[in-house]
Amino acid sequence: MSNTDGPIGIFDSGFGGLTVARSVVDQMPNEDIVYLGDTARAPYGTKSLPEVREYALECLDRLVDRGVKALVIACNSASSAVLRDARERYSVPVVDVILPAARRAVRVTNNGRIGVICTTATAYSRSYDDALAAVPDVELYTTPCPLFVDFVEAGVTGGPDLEGIAHDYLEPLVMAKIDTLILGCTHYPLLTGVINYVLGDSVTLVSSADECAKSTWATLNELGLLNHSPREATREFLTTGNPENFQGIGGRLMGGFVRDVGAIW
Ligand code: DGL
Repeated sequence: MSNTDGPIGIFDSGFGGLTVARSVVDQMPNEDIVYLGDTARAPYGTKSLPEVREYALECLDRLVDRGVKALVIACNSASSAVLRDARERYSVPVVDVILPAARRAVRVTNNGRIGVICTTATAYSRSYDDALAAVPDVELYTTPCPLFVDFVEAGVTGGPDLEGIAHDYLEPLVMAKIDTLILGCTHYPLLTGVINYVLGDSVTLVSSADECAKSTWATLNELGLLNHSPREATREFLTTGNPENFQGIGGRLMGGFVRDVGAIW
C-alpha cells in the first residue's frame, strides 16, 4: 500500500461540511473521500465546547478506524473545540477550517476591518481572535448567527424569513464598516446568496470551505500524500442520523454530489 492510498476523512456536525467536501473534490478529483456528518447530534454550535469536543473526537475516531490518510475538520465549532487534541491524538495530518480562512481574510482586506460570522460555540472559543492576534492593523468583529444553521439543516437557503434574520445579524457588521467577511461556519457558504444580497458587493466574502480545501491540497502535497494519477475516485457519505433524510436534504443542497449515504452507528 502506497502512502497516497486511503481516503481523506471529512467531518462536520451535519450538512455544512459538504461545502468543504465539494471543494476538496473540485480541487482533488483523484482523491477518495469519506464524509461523516454527526446529524443525530447537530447543531454543535449551540453546545458547550467540552460537549462538542467529546462528540467530535468520537466521530474522528470512527474515520481514523476506516483508514483515512488525513482528517479534515470541516466544522468551525469542532475545530475550535478539538483541533489541538486531534493533532496530538492521531498520527494522520489534521486540517482545520479556521487558520486558512483567517489567513485569506488578511490578504484580501483593504481597510483592516474584518468580520466573522459563526456559531455561538466558535464565537465563545475566540478561535478567530487567536488566529488573528499577531496580525497588526486588523480589527475583528464577531457576530454569532445561530439561526443560520437551522435554516441550512432544514434545506432552506432563501425566503423572507431568512432575509429578515440576515439583515438583523449583519447590520452591526455594516455599521462597523467591514470590507471582508469570513463565513466562519461551513454551513454558511450555502447562504452566500442572501449574505451577499444583504451586504452588497463591496464586502468580500471568504469561504472557510474553499480555503480549507486549498490547505488540504497543500498539506497532502507537502507530506507526499497527494494522489497525482488520474483515477476514478470514490465518495462515501456517512451519517449518525437517518440516511434517507441525509440523502434527501444533502441531495437538495448539493445537487447530485451526495449519494449512497450510509449510517455509521
Ligand atoms: N458547520 C459547523 C461550523 O462550521 C457547525 C454548525 C452547527 O452544528 O452548529 O461551525
